[in-house]
Amino acid sequence: MARRKLIYEGKAKILYEGPEPGTYVQYFKDDATAGNGAKKDVIEGKGVLNNRLSEYFMVGLGNIGIPTHFIRRLNMREQLIRQVEIIPLEVIVRNFAAGSMAKRLGMEEGAALPRPIVEFSYKDDKLGDPLVPEEYIIAFGWASQQDMDDIVSMALRVNDFMSGVMYGVGIKLIDFKIEIGRVWDNEFPRLVVADEISPDCCRLWDIETGQKLDKDVFRQDLGNLADAYTEVARRLGVLPSNVTHRPKPTLIN
Ligand SMILES: Nc1ncnc2c1ncn2[C@@H]1O[C@H](COP(=O)(O)OP(=O)(O)OP(=O)(O)O)[C@@H](O)[C@H]1O
Ligand SMILES: [Mg+2]
Repeated sequence: MARRKLIYEGKAKILYEGPEPGTYVQYFKDDATAGNGAKKDVIEGKGVLNNRLSEYFMVGLGNIGIPTHFIRRLNMREQLIRQVEIIPLEVIVRNFAAGSMAKRLGMEEGAALPRPIVEFSYKDDKLGDPLVPEEYIIAFGWASQQDMDDIVSMALRVNDFMSGVMYGVGIKLIDFKIEIGRVWDNEFPRLVVADEISPDCCRLWDIETGQKLDKDVFRQDLGNLADAYTEVARRLGVLPSNVTHRPKPTLIN
């Protein structure tokens, strides 16, 4: 059997050539990394959970009119996506101080921000994804002023959607990161949400207890990461309540 063509292997996912031109198959690995790959482990079942969760969020965004790269889930670990030109930015939306912002500004983790704040880092692992002002992005031609205006309004819409969905299941959305891609409809460019939306790229705290249910569990050695992600998936109804990730995730199709 002919092997399919590998397009890119990253830290969390693999992209393969898709069945039709302009599509990719996105495979979710179990690998977990933190600190730009400084800390690594394999968390059994993580890829299955993130595939499901990213599908759930992308479909939800599509339903409220926010375009995404998602076409359909193929199986437990793979989804069919539209190939895009990734804008080399991490688009970060923060509702509460945490992570690098809390550190940089000496703020307490969890302090409420006066309003959602959108910030950008330049996607470059070697440089440690440095924070960049919009001025740089436009000057270096990574995106136009029009793109940036569209990206900010898209990011805030995603934030409203994600915050609401999470609030509905007793989870506070502290912050998250998305990637945006450009697709061409003939000669017209359009921006879509790409990559993944999962607990790997959000901070999620239980509203009642403050318990962390995201990748900080791995970064800070707070317990079992797959248990935390399973809890998020279970609350969202993405997993039936009697299914856990042990020993191998048994998920419905
Ligand atoms: N629809 C898409 N079309 C093209 N590339 C995509 C699409 N969605 C995501 N990507 C890219 O595919 C890769 C997914 O792999 P992964 O997230 O594991 O990479 P990574 O190790 O985090 O590295 P990177 O710094 O490139 O994100 C990323 O580079 C991401 O930008
Ligand atoms: Mg990535």
